[in-house]
Amino acid sequence: MRLSVNVDHFATLREARRAAEPEPALIALLAEQAGAAGITAHLRSDRRHIKERDLRLIREVIKTKLTLEMAATSDLKKAALEIGPDVVCLVPEKPEELTTTGGLDVAANRKALAPFIKELEKGKIRLSIFVDPDLKQIEACAGLGVPQIEIHTGTYADLKPGKARERALIDVVKAAEFGHKLGLEVTAGHGLDYHNVHPVVAIPMITELSIGFSIVARSAVVGISEAVREMVALLR
Ligand code: PXP
Repeated sequence: MRLSVNVDHFATLREARRAAEPEPALIALLAEQAGAAGITAHLRSDRRHIKERDLRLIREVIKTKLTLEMAATSDLKKAALEIGPDVVCLVPEKPEELTTTGGLDVAANRKALAPFIKELEKGKIRLSIFVDPDLKQIEACAGLGVPQIEIHTGTYADLKPGKARERALIDVVKAAEFGHKLGLEVTAGHGLDYHNVHPVVAIPMITELSIGFSIVARSAVVGISEAVREMVALLR
């Protein structure tokens, strides 16, 4: 199981002060050194965290795989073709949302998505689509000829341990099995943390997990003591 570290919220922290740090490209390098098999970043239409310059720098410095998450808009397509990530993962985007709230409705948007995907593929970019664990949606992805999907684990991840969460996990397992049977590479992500990741890691058809927020939050916790020690030493 590969880990792709989503660095968006290091950029969110930077933008809270419109400052120059933390630098997402440096974070990406450190994540790679710690064992990440890839780096993921989401370029939103409002550029609220990650910006083109971040992607250009990350593209230049990392040695693993860059996955760019983006909505299927012409502005973002132009950016993707300029930056040249290894993978583009198409996601839905609502301006008011704090984070992506569900998978793309591929079945309803097949006609618009087909030419969009073709243009990115011409740029030698591998396509993935973020979908809910819904077999109809996964079939629609296979119908579009994309090689990869990312199953939305947010419904599972947001539930407390119990029957409902078990059912949500079974939906993810069934979706992964179905995608794999259709010949798709199956990845997954959203809402995964240090408590809920284990059952997802146990799904053999899933090759990669995209995890962001919990790692960013954890890095503040495990890093605070050292950061304070360094400042106290400067004050002495
Ligand atoms: N996958 C997709 C498609 C996402 O949009 C996000 C959030 O940017 C993630 C995975 C990572 O989710 P989280 O930050 O909750 O780990």
